[in-house]
Amino acid sequence: MKHLTPIAAGLLALAASYNAQAADGVKIEHLGTNNTLVRVTPDARYILLPVEESIDDATINLLADGKIEKTFYVRLARNKIDYYVPVDISDYKDKDLLLNVVTAHSRSSVREASEDACWQNISLSDTFDTTNTEKFRPSYHHTPLYGWMNDPNGMFYKDGEWHLYYQLNPYGSKWQNMTWGHSSSKDLINWEHHPVAIEPDGLGSIFSGSCIVDTNNSAGFGKDEVIAFYTSAGVNQIQSMAHSSDNGMTFQKYAGNPVITLDSESRDPNLFWYEPTQEWVLLTAHALEHEMLIYTSKDLKNWTLQSAFGKGLGAQDGVWECPDLLELPIEGSDKKKWVLICNLNPGGVFGGSAVQYFVGDFDGKTFTPDTLPDGTVPTKWMDHGKDHYATVSWSGAPDDRKVVVGWMSNWQYAAEVPTKQFRSSNTLPRDLSLFVAEDGQTYLNTVPSPEVDALRGKKALEVKGKNVGSKPSVFKLPTVNNGVCEILLSFNSETAKTVDITLANAKNEKVVMTFNPGESKFSFDRTQSGITDFSKDFPAVVWAPTLRKSTEQKLRIFIDTASIEVFDAEGNFVLTNLVFPNEPYSTISVSSNGGKARIENLTIYNIKNVKH
Ligand code: FRU
Repeated sequence: MKHLTPIAAGLLALAASYNAQAADGVKIEHLGTNNTLVRVTPDARYILLPVEESIDDATINLLADGKIEKTFYVRLARNKIDYYVPVDISDYKDKDLLLNVVTAHSRSSVREASEDACWQNISLSDTFDTTNTEKFRPSYHHTPLYGWMNDPNGMFYKDGEWHLYYQLNPYGSKWQNMTWGHSSSKDLINWEHHPVAIEPDGLGSIFSGSCIVDTNNSAGFGKDEVIAFYTSAGVNQIQSMAHSSDNGMTFQKYAGNPVITLDSESRDPNLFWYEPTQEWVLLTAHALEHEMLIYTSKDLKNWTLQSAFGKGLGAQDGVWECPDLLELPIEGSDKKKWVLICNLNPGGVFGGSAVQYFVGDFDGKTFTPDTLPDGTVPTKWMDHGKDHYATVSWSGAPDDRKVVVGWMSNWQYAAEVPTKQFRSSNTLPRDLSLFVAEDGQTYLNTVPSPEVDALRGKKALEVKGKNVGSKPSVFKLPTVNNGVCEILLSFNSETAKTVDITLANAKNEKVVMTFNPGESKFSFDRTQSGITDFSKDFPAVVWAPTLRKSTEQKLRIFIDTASIEVFDAEGNFVLTNLVFPNEPYSTISVSSNGGKARIENLTIYNIKNVKH
């Protein structure tokens, strides 16, 4: 060995010490102030990576035997560890595995870079703990096992199973690495979690889209193949296709991708079969142009742009996203109408994200909206809460039902809500139809899907016929299972101007809902609901038009650990809102202002334990 100068020997010793602390099976080499190699012996199932949420993403190339397998982005911990994320390496047994990590910011020296908390704490493990016991983890709404979730998408029903895909970051609880996560259910309330279904590739990450079952083998991949359309989001947004012969568990990407390109932002392909013309119809959101593009195809591979809908109509702020086009029956008649669903963000009815819709006609190529007598197109909202977005329907639901589910959050603060190892859940599934309201307009009728009734456990309370005055009538909410429950409440405001329904806990945190029959309004105030200070946009008072002149009001209220969905029992309106009370609400009280009111019926059910 050559003689080393004392300085060189010192440096070598230092380098050895930089590399010494890693866990068993992990070898770390710091190449520079922002570049580190992590060599791994792949005899475990997972590499566990430590995450610090406030740090910028590091770019990680995973190489197996010198070949790039995937590139992903992780907020590798520097000062403290918020949680770990697993990288599944079970496919790489007997290979030389290397993570080439480039961190977002250069440190002043290699020594400083080597002191980041992540390096000492990267480890190998055969298990990753998903028994997530966070306080605000929902108790019965669909939620990812860990990681960030946004839009539900690609939903289809086949052979008695409801498949639900969703925008997932498998490597952190903030938006990144968009991948299709996958769950399925036989009853719409118990959910089975599956491995991720579609992962990013050289065309980009995998944004929202839709699935159909190709019963006629239009695409030539085989009869009953499940076909997924999604947006490949790279530098541009282009539409791609993948197909599955195992009922949506795994997908093979189409070699001819992308199938639709445009030189402007367009995304979230939504696909359905239009019987009269025997063609497939696909909508994409021409996001910045505030319009939906309508394409048709016979073979799912070659598409013709037929029309564009929406310029200048409805709410026009922000971007238009996640379209859907559905034919729905009008209650009490034998007529049907088409509804074009348009998610938009920001610019929603109470700020941030929300879902508007247009009622009209569709001829296979063009959607024509209904107008008011003055010729204008009205703006209508599907849900008047703050936390209902990216709502689309299941393809092929039984009995021609139109079943939808939304993401229960808002882009204004979704990444800041007080949870850690996971972020976001979905709304309860809802069945849609149409009804003609007293103002002569046709509106969406939204009710919890009938399957949701099976969530009801023991009856915790039943009160019939009780007069209510300005002194609140107070009733206890269940305490089992963190107080999650379904409340059925029907009341008559009689001579009262308004009726308040208040959910509260001993910390004086509360949600106040107010029925105002004179103004045909129902409002929801969460300004004092608990933890609200993580975003200035979170404390809010929202309201829905009840769309009827009546002193009677019937509600179905679903309380979960961190959400409240209030349905008008007849489907005229819905309000979906997140809440983060420091302890569960323990009472419901009803009081009237300016006159007497009467509770006709108050029934409270516990909620059964379900897999979600
Ligand atoms: C809607 C959205 C979609 C996009 C996806 C990306 O919330 O912005 O337009 O496909 O999220 O995750």
